[in-house]
Amino acid sequence: MPSTRSPRITVFPNDRAAARALARRITDALAANPRLVLGLPTGRTPVGLYHELAAHAAHGHTDFSHVTTFNLDEFLNVGPDHPGSYRQFMEQHLFSRVKIPPERINFLNGSAADPPAECARYERAIADAGGIDLQILGIGTNGHIGFNEPARQLQSRTHCVTLKPETRRSNAALFGGDAAAVPEKALSMGMATILQARSIVLLANGRSKASCIERVVNGPLTTELPASFLQLHHGVDILIDKSAAERLER
Ligand code: GLP
Repeated sequence: MPSTRSPRITVFPNDRAAARALARRITDALAANPRLVLGLPTGRTPVGLYHELAAHAAHGHTDFSHVTTFNLDEFLNVGPDHPGSYRQFMEQHLFSRVKIPPERINFLNGSAADPPAECARYERAIADAGGIDLQILGIGTNGHIGFNEPARQLQSRTHCVTLKPETRRSNAALFGGDAAAVPEKALSMGMATILQARSIVLLANGRSKASCIERVVNGPLTTELPASFLQLHHGVDILIDKSAAERLER
């Protein structure tokens, strides 16, 4: 009988195997429902997944023409054409390689004149699309999801966030390797926005994520580890490689 425990953990021999399995899950979901609404992350972790999805598209195995996407977050005061923007990251790794109609690609506009209005617009767009069917997540080394940073209080809806120094450092590669050039603020889906997705898959690789993964699975719910709130959702899968599972093994 399939496990009813959530989060469900699957450990893969390496990150490529995890990416392949998740790509297969997404393409199977698309075959069952071509109008799938997908929530997408950025970061180094999903690059392999996007490569696999591009391969499915290139082989003509999967039709992305009716899918709708919503990305989790974007840097504030960074326009969609800025080379460091998450929008450009997605163009490079996925959108230029699979045929998703541009009007079905949803992104927070980091250069919007009125950020709170932009956040409200995004929430409405997600609701108008019928909600997110499958939300893919990475995890920051401090336990953030999207850009929901550890804090005494978490925000439920799409909002403006001040980034932690460690988060700016881990995003430095997008800004010429200079952490000081990474914007101090960003826009992010909120915790409730994420947790309202019908299913969620968290992807994590490498030893630097092992401690967070152990706490997400076994630790208490705490705003100091935003990903721990995934324990509240009934349909979460955590796909990890052996290194990220290091602390789960006895
Ligand atoms: C960024 C993103 C997160 C992502 C995290 C992990 O901060 N806002 O959504 O999960 O990076 O990045 P990486 O996959 O590079 O470890």
